[in-house]
Amino acid sequence: MLDRTHNTPALPPEIARRRTFAIISHPDAGKTTLTEKFLLYGGAIQMAGQVRAKGEARRSRSDFMQMEKDRGISVSASAMSFEFRDFWFNLVDTPGHSDFSEDTYRTLTAVDAAIMVIDGAKGVESQTRKLFEVCRLRDLPILTFCNKMDRESRDTFDIIDEIQENLAIDVTPASWPIGMGREFVGAYDLLHDRLEIMDRADRNVKAESIKIAGLDDPKIAEHVPAHLLEKLREEVEMARALLPPFDRQAFLDGTLTPIWFGSAINSFGVQELMDGIGEFGPAPQLRPAQERQVSADESKVSGFVFKVQANMDPKHRDRVAFVRLCSGHFLRGMKLTHVRSGKAMAISNPVMFLANERELTEDAWAGDIIGIPNHGQLRIGDALTEGEALHFTGIPSFAPELLQAVRVTDPMKAKHLEKALTQFAEEGAAKLFKPMIGSGWIVGVVGQLQFDVLQSRIELEYGIPVRFEPTQFTSARWVAGPRDKLEAFVKGNRGHMAEDHDGDPVYMTRLQWDIDRVGRDYPELKLTATKEMM
Ligand code: G4P
Repeated sequence: MLDRTHNTPALPPEIARRRTFAIISHPDAGKTTLTEKFLLYGGAIQMAGQVRAKGEARRSRSDFMQMEKDRGISVSASAMSFEFRDFWFNLVDTPGHSDFSEDTYRTLTAVDAAIMVIDGAKGVESQTRKLFEVCRLRDLPILTFCNKMDRESRDTFDIIDEIQENLAIDVTPASWPIGMGREFVGAYDLLHDRLEIMDRADRNVKAESIKIAGLDDPKIAEHVPAHLLEKLREEVEMARALLPPFDRQAFLDGTLTPIWFGSAINSFGVQELMDGIGEFGPAPQLRPAQERQVSADESKVSGFVFKVQANMDPKHRDRVAFVRLCSGHFLRGMKLTHVRSGKAMAISNPVMFLANERELTEDAWAGDIIGIPNHGQLRIGDALTEGEALHFTGIPSFAPELLQAVRVTDPMKAKHLEKALTQFAEEGAAKLFKPMIGSGWIVGVVGQLQFDVLQSRIELEYGIPVRFEPTQFTSARWVAGPRDKLEAFVKGNRGHMAEDHDGDPVYMTRLQWDIDRVGRDYPELKLTATKEMM
């Protein structure tokens, strides 16, 4: 387990003030709205409504494609940096649809903390639970935001109980809601003894904050109706007796989550949550590598690629590799070693994403996310260092669960298809297999919607109409082992063999029985459903 006590003031101030986090939630809980309010308070945008495509239809397939087409939106959604008070926030985000969770999982390797947004009426939903489990694997500190308190919500204790029981994490209230639905007036800030009163008239106005001397302060009655006040006092007393108090170390260890109650759309509770991230952290943490742990305050720069996005600007056909800086102070123009190839790379055009603008950056610190435009050299999992051979660990790769053959309707375009598919494979958007016998490609993905998106992107970005069709195979396994054994195996099973986009051998079949047989007949070979990213 990582040593999180490392979160000390001894870090250089520029690193200590960095907060790099992601938002995890089930679709519709309010992630986009909350992100937008963060940017608003971070001064990165002037008006609500700038970051997102509007309305219900946004989540329909056709609109998703439109959104992908208008890459501006997903660009700004990849990594956004902004200042808030004394802090520098890096908010890393990915599409919330479950078919894209592979991308989301990888994103979680690049952050130091996560905000879990839940809908006050729905509680912990399936996607939240899945993503939470990934955070747990890394012991990530989690801050919880219970959203939509302006609507009829569940009882506050019920919500807290559900999180504790469902996710097996202790919950401590950072705020306590006063009323709910139409009667929702605001929240009592338990950590600072403040009353936060929601402004219903203007959704973009932040709450009025009133300093009080505990719940017996007569000032409260001026703002909270008597029946709600009585309930608040009772509930807070009970909460203090029954629930654990805030404990920073337990939070940093990922065993306790503070919860804020609010309404993102009404800008309520958002600043308090942001203050919480600032106050409690964590600052950039130690990063595990095969060789050793890398500390943020080391003077030499290091980082790893956790995401590659292609064609962000269709006019330039570039790829941007998103790099989480793990240590040091990066300066534009630096020559870094690309550990996988051993070659030096001059990083002359690093970009950061300030709200929805992609801007050239002159420097960046450990904890920051920078985008490096490149022509395909940088892949997910790659490390960049000032010479040391570091291999950062923990970037997950997923077993492709669905396999389909891809066909071009125009055979003249087959060559271009190869280029498009290779690129998506490098982005991590799909696994690509070239069967040793016959022509064509087989594509492996985790969720059905990925085929639709790929089909649409191949057409939009490369002008190649394609269709996906079932193949005779349903499972793919990477095969590794001593060279002579591997060669003998490939020779004897050519009808089942393919190469992935790195040229590594993959065995394909539709029968589990086949896989078991290979295991018995070739005990020296290792068959795996995923391929290590590094
Ligand atoms: P997501 O990114 O997690 O999928 O959620 P998103 O922010 O898009 O929010 C989902 C819906 O919930 C949106 O409504 C949004 O306006 C609404 N919402 C977000 N926060 C709150 C809140 O605090 N209170 C209430 N009552 N609603 C909230 P929509 O109708 O789908 O979209 P739109 O037409 O409002 O844009």
